[in-house]
Amino acid sequence: MRTDRPLMCPPQVSATALCDYVPRPARVMSITKMTPHDALFSLELIDGKTLGHRPGQFVQFSILGVGECPISVCSSPTRPQQFQLSVRRVGEVTSAIHRLRTGEIVGVRGPLGRGIEPSEIDGRDILVAVGGCALAPARSLIHYILDQRVRFGRFDLLYGAKSPREMLFRNELKIWRDSRDLNCQITVDAGDATWRGRTGAVTRLFEDLPPMNTTNTVAVIIGPPAMFRHVLTEVLKRGIPADRVFCSLERRMKCGIGKCGHCQVNDLYSCIDGPVFRYSEIRSRPEAFA
Ligand SMILES: Cc1cc2nc3c(=O)[nH]c(=O)nc-3n(C[C@H](O)[C@H](O)[C@H](O)COP(=O)(O)OP(=O)(O)OC[C@H]3O[C@@H](n4cnc5c(N)ncnc54)[C@H](O)[C@@H]3O)c2cc1C
Ligand code: FES
Repeated sequence: MRTDRPLMCPPQVSATALCDYVPRPARVMSITKMTPHDALFSLELIDGKTLGHRPGQFVQFSILGVGECPISVCSSPTRPQQFQLSVRRVGEVTSAIHRLRTGEIVGVRGPLGRGIEPSEIDGRDILVAVGGCALAPARSLIHYILDQRVRFGRFDLLYGAKSPREMLFRNELKIWRDSRDLNCQITVDAGDATWRGRTGAVTRLFEDLPPMNTTNTVAVIIGPPAMFRHVLTEVLKRGIPADRVFCSLERRMKCGIGKCGHCQVNDLYSCIDGPVFRYSEIRSRPEAFA
């Protein structure tokens, strides 16, 4: 465990530091079911403030008497009135979140972690490669770019899902696919009777990608660990330098603020040094893609 940060709350805790530990109350404004096990929650902080996040950051979402869990913010800071969280039901806390009703009060710590800074992508061509339910964190960045389209160059979005049924944000995917503001390509591992699109791994979508101006391109990769190695190979093969490739790494987390060591990636803590890392920062750290 890293020893360069205090493990306990210091006796003199500033109001800002206290915010890291104490959940802020937020009201559930709406709930939209997306798949049998995914729902989209729109929230507003009770204090009337905006969340003030960057794409790629997360919050600790808590239900009193049950617990808390890290969830990526899937809405863009360009739409600040409410913020949105897409939650997959997998265990105790996420099941309690799925039992929530509109109007109920929950707790939110954050925004936490390192997201994508505007200065890192401003004026760049952007390539976003996404796998599975990572479309949720990616959506924050996608809306961020589309809402300020003139600030960016070419925008390619490559998305791979397990099956059509597992796809999140299906209506938005359709809009993005038909839009001239981006090149959105979608594939599924296995189609069904309704699927007319491509099948195969997300790396297949690189085959049809028009040549890129790699001197100005930023790549962002968000997905399950199994996807990273293959997508990284495609991205690096095209000549995008490692310090312009951003990878969002999900790790088990507890505190979310660099105190417990649960999220360690070698000498880094995913909760404060990430979850978004430059590939140049993690390529020599074997735990990053374990
Ligand atoms: C930075 C970050 C962002 C995340 N963003 C989202 C998001 O936007 N939407 C979303 O639905 N989930 C997200 N997750 C995952 C989410 O935090 C877990 O699913 C949640 O903590 C499970 O809590 P639980 O009490 O419901 O389940 P538990 O009872 O704790 O676990 C149920 C099952 O899920 C597995 N699991 C728990 N945590 C994780 C994890 N971090 N990674 C993989 N498997 C896990 C457990 O091994 C177990 O099999 C994120 C995780 C991190 C670290
Ligand atoms: S150090 Fe506690 S979750 Fe990262």
